[in-house]
Amino acid sequence: MNSFIYNIPTKVYFGENQLGNLAAELAKFGKRVLIAYGGGSIKRIGLYDRVMDELHKAEFEVFELSGIEPNPRIESVREGAKICKEQGVDVVLAIGGGSTLDAAKFMAAGACVDHDPWEFFGANAKPIERALPLVTILTLSATGSEMDSGGVISNLSTGDKLGRLAPALQPRVSFLDPTLTYSVSKYQTACGAADMMSHIIEVYFNTQEDLFMLDTFMEGMLKTIIKYAPIALAEPENYEARANLMWTSSWAINGFINGGKRKAWSCHPMEHELSAIYDITHGLGLAILTPRWMEYCLDETTVDKYVQYGVNVFGIDASLDKMTIAKESIRRTAEFLFDTLGLQRTFTEVGIKREDFEIMAKKACRYGDIKGFKTLTPDDVVRIFEMCE
Ligand code: NZQ
Ligand code: ZN
Repeated sequence: MNSFIYNIPTKVYFGENQLGNLAAELAKFGKRVLIAYGGGSIKRIGLYDRVMDELHKAEFEVFELSGIEPNPRIESVREGAKICKEQGVDVVLAIGGGSTLDAAKFMAAGACVDHDPWEFFGANAKPIERALPLVTILTLSATGSEMDSGGVISNLSTGDKLGRLAPALQPRVSFLDPTLTYSVSKYQTACGAADMMSHIIEVYFNTQEDLFMLDTFMEGMLKTIIKYAPIALAEPENYEARANLMWTSSWAINGFINGGKRKAWSCHPMEHELSAIYDITHGLGLAILTPRWMEYCLDETTVDKYVQYGVNVFGIDASLDKMTIAKESIRRTAEFLFDTLGLQRTFTEVGIKREDFEIMAKKACRYGDIKGFKTLTPDDVVRIFEMCE
């Protein structure tokens, strides 16, 4: 196993009725709070009022930024950073899904610099040395933004959706209450499951062999998603299902499973180009890409990983020949994503057009070939896109 650093400094309050701790946690950072949220779901589920009650009781000075979009835009980040600077905000409280949390991370960082927050992204990105403290209340299990130090922001004017990681962006405290996800639609629940599944697959499908402990942990998380996502779809208020999905979403991407593994991801850089141009839901794009990417990478040199996955995650008969197991593991993955979760299965169905394949492939490889499970050139990416039609 390669050497690595383990450091996941987010304090998590997990479960129902933990919001009583919110004021005390925020107060550690100051009294002036910016709350950031999305299009209104937190008001519909009564969460906004609960949070405001807590904040007013503890006499915080509260500023608000609402309307953060799915696939959050740089304009929202700019607006939030501006409020933080003008109002001398001490701490940012993000309430929502990954989009709100991601946007809040860059507001918090933007508040500490003089330049435009878009300069945090791209090939000549400016450093992120500091950020205001960030506290989150998660309402959708998917991205793991509640426990990681990254985020992804869209800029419609340039047609880019770019990610950035920096330790300063890590939330200091996150509140994870599974009951807050009861109201998440079937579609977003399915997309969230596909997203967290992809976060694991991106790391699991790796040519290094010496990480039995982490591989076994990942197989457990994949089995958790496969078991509980259908239950959450059928019974949205099943606490056990929502809780298992929520904690899996955090651990799928908080850095733990990387251990010393090579870290390049494959489906994510491809998917971000789909949502950059077509504004589709991240998890949906990943669902369409993942089985095709698995098929594209399958050959005699990679087959063993598919066998391990197929046998340990889906319980496929280990006595079958390797290629049969590998192909069956891809079929079972597609069946889960498209039949069980009910997600659309092709680019054609979601309106993604061939005329954009080349530019999206080029941008997916903007930093060079994608050096993941198998190295992908822009031509490879176009071929994978064609398989998605
Ligand atoms: O805006 P509101 O009204 O809150 O509605 C949201 C939104 O329409 C709704 N929603 C959230 N919680 C709800 C709810 N509806 C009912 N009840 C609730 N409790 O769900 C819709 C989607 O929300 P969004 O935040 O966009 O979803 P998600 O959490 O999947 O976030 C996706 C974004 O995160 C990025 C994606 O690229 C995408 O931009 N990612 C962030 C990552 C990270 N920080 O590490 C990694 C991921 O791979 C991903 O790239
Ligand atoms: Zn993702």
